[in-house]
Amino acid sequence: MGKAYLTGDFAAVPDEIEAHDLPLTGTLPPELTGRYFRNGPNPKPGDDPGHWFAGDGMIHGIRLHEGRAEWYRNRWVRTRHFTENAPFLSESGLDLTAGTANTHVIRHDDRIFALVEAAYPYELTPELDTIGPCDFGGKLTTAMTAHPKLDPITGELHLFGYGYFPPFLTYHRLSADGELVESREIEGPGPTLMHDFAITERHLVWLDLPVTLDLDRDSAMPFAYDESYGARIGITPRAGGETRWFEVDPCAVFHVGNAWEDEQGRVVLNAVRYTGETFTGLWEGISGRADLAGAAAEISVANPYRWTLDPTTGAVTEELLDDRGVEFPTLNETRVGRENRFLYTVGVEQIVKYDHLTGSAASLATGGRTGEAVFVPAEGAISEDDGWLLSIVTASRGSRLLVADARDLKEVASVTLPRRVPAGFHGSWLPDH
Ligand SMILES: [Fe+2]
Repeated sequence: MGKAYLTGDFAAVPDEIEAHDLPLTGTLPPELTGRYFRNGPNPKPGDDPGHWFAGDGMIHGIRLHEGRAEWYRNRWVRTRHFTENAPFLSESGLDLTAGTANTHVIRHDDRIFALVEAAYPYELTPELDTIGPCDFGGKLTTAMTAHPKLDPITGELHLFGYGYFPPFLTYHRLSADGELVESREIEGPGPTLMHDFAITERHLVWLDLPVTLDLDRDSAMPFAYDESYGARIGITPRAGGETRWFEVDPCAVFHVGNAWEDEQGRVVLNAVRYTGETFTGLWEGISGRADLAGAAAEISVANPYRWTLDPTTGAVTEELLDDRGVEFPTLNETRVGRENRFLYTVGVEQIVKYDHLTGSAASLATGGRTGEAVFVPAEGAISEDDGWLLSIVTASRGSRLLVADARDLKEVASVTLPRRVPAGFHGSWLPDH
């Protein structure tokens, strides 16, 4: 059996195609007029990048227009890593124009960016052609996370870059009109795999956890779980000031759900958490060193979890929210940094919706490997969960775009895609208006 990240649902597609007027069942809400773009690694035919995370980014795009699925199109991001085989890491350090751009795709100030955490964003056209790397007029001097946070009130985009060399962590802020207006070094963390972070109304929230970097490790992704590093969560005032670090039980996290300040001024952080054991098992599989049971390779082995950090007393409480395995948390992004009631995740062949108010969970069986479920607010939405969930589901017969009503988790439409879409990472709904 081949390496799990090159086979089964993970296997790359060999080329770029386009198809029009896609068949669908059910009824696509006409208000879903725009584009759904999803990013993920897709090594070129014959390439073995050595780790699932190291493949060249490919965007799968689906255009919806007033109830019709107008087109599907997939395109590699033409990074220098893709076109010239330029290494992103060499003896002279990091080349921020040579990332794989394989992790997320977002829009800010009407510009579309493919993101990977080790490099600059790459700008794309709405037709998925590559424009090139972006350093915001020379102002971005570090890599950019693939998980920036848009403040729904101010319209600013908060982001960071983490480095393999000092400074290990730098915070940046883009204005609503796309200008980089602040960069600030954050003191404290070492070279750890900092994939995501959180914002609240007043704070930035950092995860400095024991997935550490050691360039002497023989791996395309030289990170490993090392509990001796310890684990801490940091909170930095957005307005400026010292970062306060809280020791927590050692663990690993890729993805944050959300964070907010509660009425007592405590910072509440929800994320999907791995133990050392579950993280190491996953990492061995996606590094190709262990069998992930081939096509059935499962990546949802983490649990929703909550930390409550009290800046007054320094106290931390930790709480497992559910023991089923999930990943790729999403929410109604008008709640980013504010208390949210609902969190959407994906588990084994299902979408799982959590209700933090009642402590309950509901699920939708999808019949296949289920990609991140992106929440799109309904037109004129009243409740937080009034909206749609978009997810690419892949089964043996191929891939489809599933559209579900987020309130009751009922499937409302399914668009048949013209080809299998490999397991991937994150995407965005880019409405026309
Ligand atoms: Fe991610």
